[in-house]
Amino acid sequence: MGSGTLPCGQVGQKLHVMRRIGKVWRREDDLVSNKSQSLWRRAEKVLAGGPATLSKHPARFPQGLAPVFLDRGNGAYVWDVDGQRWIDTIAALGPILLGHDNGAVSDAAQGQAYRLTSASLSTRLEVEVAERLVEIIPGAEQVRFASNGKDITEAAVKVARYVTGKQHAIYIGYHGGFSDYLATTDKDGGILGYLRLYNHQLPWRDLKALDTTMDSTENNLACIML
Ligand SMILES: Cc1ncc(COP(=O)(O)O)c(C=O)c1O
Repeated sequence: MGSGTLPCGQVGQKLHVMRRIGKVWRREDDLVSNKSQSLWRRAEKVLAGGPATLSKHPARFPQGLAPVFLDRGNGAYVWDVDGQRWIDTIAALGPILLGHDNGAVSDAAQGQAYRLTSASLSTRLEVEVAERLVEIIPGAEQVRFASNGKDITEAAVKVARYVTGKQHAIYIGYHGGFSDYLATTDKDGGILGYLRLYNHQLPWRDLKALDTTMDSTENNLACIML
């Protein structure tokens, strides 16, 4: 963990700044020169709801003990905009298995950007990557690429409904911002209410609730998303 100042905040609340002195963290709200604090003020004005992904919101991290804005990364480490170094335990929610700025990955990404920035038709690379994934993922037969997790989890529910001919879906844990799932949460503004009839959110490890909900779907359950 780094030392010095650390920013943190909560939705709709003032961003606090903490300073670590030895092993003790102290709140210093008057540290106005802090880069994260001023960036947060700018973000609140122009970014609807803060960061693009809810899981990156500062309110989801221990107040005063986590960075808010990252600037760069190398290997397992990231540096925040205040220049402090951290171990990136989040690892971009999973995809950077080889760490930040892994030489071969950065070179390949850069080379591809020069070669073909965004393809208007299918490419050889798409086929080659799909073949490789089918080869190394046990049970995988075909691949569908998407640009975010929401598109894939939503597609998985659709496929389950299509293949089984059944309508209900049970969700345990977070599965992204698609309407069927959001209908089961408190973030359901703008979502049609009837979706609640077919989508159900349950807590982890509550087998009784799972039994009850499965019974209530009367053999019309398409999938359980964990
Ligand atoms: C298990 C799971 N499913 C789906 C998603 C949604 O992914 P995205 O934010 O890329 O749409 C997330 C994101 O945190 C996730 O953790």
